[in-house]
Amino acid sequence: MADNIHPIFDRLLGRDEKEQQLNQTAKVIWMTGLSGSGKSTIAIAFEKLLHAKGFQTMVLDGDNTRTGICNNLGFSLEDRAENIRRIAEVSKLFTQAGIVCINSFVSPTREIRAMAQEIIGKDDFLEIYINAPLEVCEERDVKGLYQKARNGEIKGFTGIDSPYEAPQNPYLEIRTDQQSLEESVTLVFNKILPLIGKA
Ligand code: ADX
Repeated sequence: MADNIHPIFDRLLGRDEKEQQLNQTAKVIWMTGLSGSGKSTIAIAFEKLLHAKGFQTMVLDGDNTRTGICNNLGFSLEDRAENIRRIAEVSKLFTQAGIVCINSFVSPTREIRAMAQEIIGKDDFLEIYINAPLEVCEERDVKGLYQKARNGEIKGFTGIDSPYEAPQNPYLEIRTDQQSLEESVTLVFNKILPLIGKA
């Protein structure tokens, strides 16, 4: 830490007070998976459900962070690690404000996700593996990026010529090729609710 930085954490209102006021316990729900696996779709639907139940939430995903706080980063493994480091730090701030943070990031390697867990803290980091086989994601090709990656127009695309390491022991795994969106969101909700339900 730089010499002239003076932390003010001891003078700030605590997370506990904020959680109590919001009547919820903050967590970071971290969705990892291939591009096109359904992470953002689930994150958005899950947030709507939590909102309807009275929870205060925030969704972070590549589409809102890579245009802002991470807009100087690309997709080398080094840049992805920096992307996830910043996101993890931002998520931690949200938890300190008592907010349930729903994150949707490819976060392709175990090392990158371990760093996120380390920053956020083990108890607050809930890893959800949004799993659909590469063939299915490629077939969906919602953004047309797999086609571009196959054509060589995009280099270093996750699952094609850049690695994706599946989580070994996720808090929850969702197979989006076998379950509907509604079923997926219900599974996430049932698993998460006991942890965020009451401060
Ligand atoms: S991460 O690897 O750093 O976690 P992030 O989740 O922010 O990635 O962004 C992934 C999204 O960026 C993909 O869903 C896709 O739309 C887009 N994208 C563009 N280039 C790439 C690439 N080379 N690899 C993966 N995703 C890419």
